Formats: sequence, C-alpha cells, structure tokens
Amino acid sequence: MKAMYSFLCLLGGVFALAAAVGEGKTNGYDLSKTMNGVTFQRAKAVREPTPDRPALRFSRLHNIKGKAGAYSATSALGRVLRTPPSHHEHTYQNVTRAGEFSTQYAIQCGWDGVPVWLLFDTGSSDTWAVQTGFECDDGWGDEHDEGACGFGKPLIDGFGDDTIQDLHFSLKYGSGEKITGPMGYSDIACGGVFVSHQQVGLANYTYWHGNNFTVGMLGLAYPSITSAFYGEIGSEAPWNAISYTPFLTSAIMQGAIDPVFSVAILKNSSEGMLAWGGLPPMDWQRGEFAATDLIIANLIGQAETSWRYSFYTIIPDGIKWGQTTDTTKFPYIVDTGTTMNYLPPRKCPLLLGVSETCGLTPHAALAEAIAMAFQPRAVYLYQWGSYFAPCDAVPPRFAVIISGVEFWINPADLMYQDLKDPLTGYCAVAIASGGSGPYILGDVFLQNVVAVFDVGAAQMRFYSR
Ligand SMILES: *[C@@H]1O[C@H](CO)[C@@H](O)[C@H](O)[C@H]1NC(C)=O
Ligand SMILES: *[C@@H]1O[C@H](CO)[C@@H](O)[C@H](O)[C@H]1NC(C)=O
Ligand SMILES: *[C@@H]1O[C@H](CO)[C@@H](O)[C@H](O)[C@H]1NC(C)=O
Ligand SMILES: *[C@@H]1O[C@H](CO)[C@@H](O)[C@H](O)[C@H]1NC(C)=O
Repeated sequence: MKAMYSFLCLLGGVFALAAAVGEGKTNGYDLSKTMNGVTFQRAKAVREPTPDRPALRFSRLHNIKGKAGAYSATSALGRVLRTPPSHHEHTYQNVTRAGEFSTQYAIQCGWDGVPVWLLFDTGSSDTWAVQTGFECDDGWGDEHDEGACGFGKPLIDGFGDDTIQDLHFSLKYGSGEKITGPMGYSDIACGGVFVSHQQVGLANYTYWHGNNFTVGMLGLAYPSITSAFYGEIGSEAPWNAISYTPFLTSAIMQGAIDPVFSVAILKNSSEGMLAWGGLPPMDWQRGEFAATDLIIANLIGQAETSWRYSFYTIIPDGIKWGQTTDTTKFPYIVDTGTTMNYLPPRKCPLLLGVSETCGLTPHAALAEAIAMAFQPRAVYLYQWGSYFAPCDAVPPRFAVIISGVEFWINPADLMYQDLKDPLTGYCAVAIASGGSGPYILGDVFLQNVVAVFDVGAAQMRFYSR
C-alpha cells in the first residue's frame, strides 16, 4: 500500500511540473531562454521508458476539415506573436490564413456511458462538454439560438457523480471563443480507457464557432494548465486557479494504461490513430527509431489570464533538405492540430554584415531555402501567407534529424494537391516560416512517423514508417 502511495505521489510529481524542473541545456539549446513569451521546461522522468509494444486500447481520430483551427499551436502562437513586429521576421506567416490549413481531430468517448465526439487537443488539459440548455452567446453579450454555436449532438444533461460547489471552469481561446460552466465528476471512457470519477466541465455558457459535430474537448496536454477557478465567474485570476488531475493523468494513476500514448496520422484518409499505453495496433513497418527529451513549452496569454496552453516539444538536431543540412538548435512543438511544418530562420555565415538569417526578403528563413529547392521554385503568395508551387513541381528531399536519425518526409506530402490558389493554379507547399518561433512539426511530419509521448519517462520517441 505504501509503495502504491509513493508511486502515485511520483506520478503526481511528474505532472506537477514544479518550477524547479528543467534548467540547463538540452541538446545544445538553453531552455532558460524564453521565446516570444513562451517558456520551456524539461519534463521530469519518474520511471524508465515504457517498452514500445502494440497497445491494447486505441481511439480513431476523425479528421474535421473546413474550420479555422483556433486551438492549434499555430493559432495559439500566432496570437502571441501578433504583437507589433519590429520587422517582418517577428511574425508568423499570416496566421489568420494559416487557419485555412489547420486540421482538427475528433475522438469518440463515452461520457457517463453516452457516446460523444470531442475535439482532441494536445495543447490544453481540460475535458469538457456542452450542457443541455446552455446559453449560446455571439461574443457581444447577445444570446442566440443554440444552433448558432455549432455544437453536435447529444448534449450532456449533468454530471454522473457530484457537482463541485463553488468551482467553475473558464476557457478563453485567442479567437475570442469562450466557454464557462460548472465542474463536477463523471465517468469518461475513450478507446476502452475507462476513468471513473473524472473531474470535468460542463459548458453552460459558450461563445463558440463549432463544427456541428463535436460537443466538447478532450485535453491531453501536460496538466500544468488546467482551468478550474474558485469564485465568481468572470473573476478568474492566477490566485483563484486551482489545479486538478486531468483525464490522462487519472487514467495512468488509476492503472488503466502505462504512462504513454502515441499518435499516427494516416496518409490517405487524413484520419489518425491514438494508441493508449503503447504503439498503434495497426499494420505498419517500424523503420528507423529515435528517442529524445520531452520538453514542455508553456504559453501564457498575457491579456487573458485564463487562457493557457502547454505543448509537447522536442529539440531536433537539425533539418536536412536536398544536399544541405542546418543544425541550429531550436525547440519544435509536435502538434496534430497544425497541418504544416513551421521552420526557423536559417543560420548563415555572417558575411559583409548581412543579417544572420541570410535572406534579404522579409520571410527569409529555412522555409524560403526549401521553397527555392522545389523544381520549379515555389513562390510566396502574400494573400495566403504561404508558399505555393506548380502542382507538378518536384519537391526536394526533406528530413528532420532527431537524435542523429534522419526522418524523411515523403516528397509527395510536401505539397497539397487539393489546396490550390485559384489565381495561379499553384498548390500549397507544406513548409512555412515560423518567424521568430517557436517552430512546429505538424501533420506533414506526423504522417511519416509514429510519435510516442512517453510522459512517464519524459521522453518522445519516433519511428519512421
Ligand atoms: C492575412 O490574411 C488576412 C485574411 O485573409 C488578410 O485580411 C490580411 O491582410 C493578411 N495579412 C497580411 C500581412 O498579408
Ligand atoms: C452556469 O453554472 C454556474 C455554476 O457554475 C451558474 O452560476 C450559472 O448561473 C450558470 N449559467 C447559466 C447560463 O446557466
Ligand atoms: C453548422 O450548421 C449551421 C446551421 O445548421 C450552419 O449555418 C453552419 O455553417 C454549419 N457550420 C459548419 C462549420 O458546418
Ligand atoms: C495511398 O495512396 C497511394 C497513392 O495515392 C497508394 O499508392 C497507396 O496504396 C494508398 N495507401 C493506402 C493504405 O490506401
């Protein structure tokens, strides 16, 4: 019993993310440097890595298209970076437009036994669903018909277990979207992972641009950032925030799964698979393998105290394209909600006092060098804030180097045949500039690997496939 207790304490510790964790350098990158208001921490390991074997439990990720992704790393970062730039390199490529290239995934879970579709989010930690009879607001304080908020069906009547008195949850997304409501306990089961008495939120007030399909969200981020508050609704502040144990941590603590989950985005269907406690139990060839430290990027919205994000992040050795390798170290967020890869500036020899990013154009970056390596070259289209190339162009070979292993992206994946600029007829390129950072490995990368999030060992592992 005592051993069990200390094990749980340890697990609590891994997720508590004490400020003491994570000093020093990781893979040559100084984690104490903040980047545009984003802070980094080395996650703390509490146990040996879980051996990779096929998981017994998994959930299918259902792709939802046609919705600007307010919850992806790109849009979250874009808002932070939407401060007046001193020069163009300080901004992301037009993130308003990047929303057009975002992907969201829905996951089916049982909510006190009722099957519901939830948005799958690795950037936030709360699990919530919308409550029957909720108030749908238009952002100006005017109440509208429920349909205007675009939730799917069914809505949830109440908590299966008790309501927590005097506690509410409040989430504000940078898009302006807003969710509040009471908190309580319900039984949540996703892909066969059953958690009893999970603390969850029921939204009774929303300003939301939904997809008419999902009814809430399943947050799988590091739980440093749950959004429960004591006190009046509207008085959310750091001093009345109270953290709690979110779904993934509960599942691990209740012994439902090993402290690992893994994600594979499937190519042809754009669907995905989330495996609980191991590798996706699908037919795939394990290729090259690499393990690297798990870093947590914390993003704190300054204006809105109740808006917080935390992202699973790694520090690759570098990027390779064509015959060129760039080994400057930067943190990259691994994000299923972002379609493209967002790359850093390029390290170039300092010649004649020309800028370090060696480009003369505003968005000069690795992304530009890679765009130039398409045959024929890709061009930057301002109206989209992204690179486009003739749809039959030949993309360069492109790899992300992680712990010495080159993870190659299938050249065909580097262009979106179905994302055409109507004027030029060109197709969108899957590599974009991440400005002054942080940078993102999105679905175009995740389609070519199986990504293992070993939260117990504070490690990320990748297999090429
Ligand atoms: C970004 O895209 C939005 C929406 O299309 C557009 O209104 C805005 O002018 C663009 N900004 C830049 C800098 O291109
Ligand atoms: C929502 O629930 C809270 C309790 O958390 C309550 O104070 C509030 O009046 C409810 N709002 C609506 C619109 O039902
Ligand atoms: C959701 O349905 C409403 C009305 O039924 C419609 O106006 C809206 O465009 C739909 N939203 C999406 C994202 O499909
Ligand atoms: C995916 O599509 C490619 C070509 O479009 C095809 O060669 C391949 O067999 C497909 N794979 C699956 C799993 O359907």
